[in-house]
Parts: sequence; structure tokens; C-alpha cells
Amino acid sequence: MSTLLNEPVAALLEKLFTDGKRVDDEVIPRVRARAKSVGGPMNDRLMADLLDDAYISVSPEVGLFLYQVVRMKRPGLIVEFGTSLGLSTIHMAAAVRDNGVGRIVTTELSEKKAQRAAEHIQAAGLADLVEIRRGDAFQTLSRDTTPIDLLLLDGWKELYLPLLKQLEPRLPPGAIVIGDDLKLMPEILASYVEYVRANYLSLDLPIDDGLELSLRQ
Ligand SMILES: C[S@@+](CC[C@H](N)C(=O)[O-])C[C@H]1O[C@@H](n2cnc3c(N)ncnc32)[C@H](O)[C@@H]1O
Repeated sequence: MSTLLNEPVAALLEKLFTDGKRVDDEVIPRVRARAKSVGGPMNDRLMADLLDDAYISVSPEVGLFLYQVVRMKRPGLIVEFGTSLGLSTIHMAAAVRDNGVGRIVTTELSEKKAQRAAEHIQAAGLADLVEIRRGDAFQTLSRDTTPIDLLLLDGWKELYLPLLKQLEPRLPPGAIVIGDDLKLMPEILASYVEYVRANYLSLDLPIDDGLELSLRQ
């Protein structure tokens, strides 16, 4: 049976999704109220601070989809923008374990979240497959040259396009890019969608908050 459905991963994910719903139901309305009072756009760091306790993770359905994609693609290197508390990372790492090949580099701006994600990934028994880069992904990903086979974009939405452009030289033909939350923030992501539709083989998948699945040509 797959690592995703076996212990310790299955019970851990069930607990994290349950805790995440409870916490986010409380935190997100507070952040929305704060955003309204700020008036203009909030900077990345302030947003990360306000959402420091929030899970804001992919749904179980998107998690399962990520597991499936990693099993099908068998990527050597997966890069994730936005670890949060590690839920999407655990789904992909479970697939890497079952593939028997590959590794994940995941990036998180909030030190507190990165620490908690590391604990969750450790509890899942997947820490040997995952490297968490702490700090701004633009910096923490700037020095590598290894080709990226699968890129998951799930950090702040206005950064998808600039980060994709920074990492593009490392995306070989056949690389997959997945952007999350397309239905949730269509205006902010409009330029990202326009770019991948013009330069990749790309389509939207109506799973949960909406994914854009793009294939590098
Ligand atoms: C939607 S959450 C990620 C959810 C996670 N992928 C999951 O499914 O569990 C977005 C995360 O991106 C992080 N983030 C935002 N800007 C970032 C940056 N420039 N570098 C690294 N992480 C960033 C935030 O702190 C936040 O935890």
C-alpha cells in the first residue's frame, strides 16, 4: 500500500487537516479585517507574520493530486514555493518515497512555520527526502543550477510569475509547473496565467481552489 495511506502519514495528515481547519477558521477572518484596515496592499513579511499560525494548506484532494503527479512523473528534483506547515510537502514526499527516487527542496519565509513543518515532516518519517530552505525563496533558490522536474507554486500569489521567470533556466522540456489557488485570486494571478498559456502547454484544473498545470515545451 502507498506511503500516503499507511501510518504514520495517514493519521498525521488527518490530524493536520482537522487542526488546520479549526485554526484557519479563526485566523483568516482576523487577517481579512486587518487587511481592510491597512487599506492598500500588505507587504510579504507583514502578511507572513499575520498568517504565522495559519495552515492555509492545499486541500486533501489537491494533496492526492500532487501525490499522483509525483508518482506519474517520477521527478528527480521537486521545488516547492511556500511550505507553510508542510502538508503539500508531505503528500509529495510520500510519493517520492514510493517512487524510490527523487528529493524535494521546499521554501518558507516564516521561521516559525519552517520549524513546525520540519517537525511534521519528521513525524511523517520523510525528513530524509526534504530540504527546507528558510527565508525568501528568491534568495534561497538563487544559487542552485540543478534542473527542476516539478515546480509547485503555492506562496504569495503576486510572486508566482517573477519566481517562475527566475527559475525558468532550470526547467528542462517536460518539466511540470503547478500553480495553486487560481480560482481563489484570479485578478492577482491573471498575468501568471497569461504568461504560462503563451509559453507552456497549460490548462486549468478545477480541483478545489483551482490549479494551473503547465508543461514546459
Ligand atoms: C498557501 S501557504 C503554502 C501552503 C503549503 N504549500 C501547503 O499546502 O501546506 C503560502 C506560504 O508561502 C510562504 N511564502 C510567502 N512568500 C514567500 C517567499 N518569498 N519565500 C518563501 N516562502 C514564502 C508563506 O509564509 C506561507 O506560509
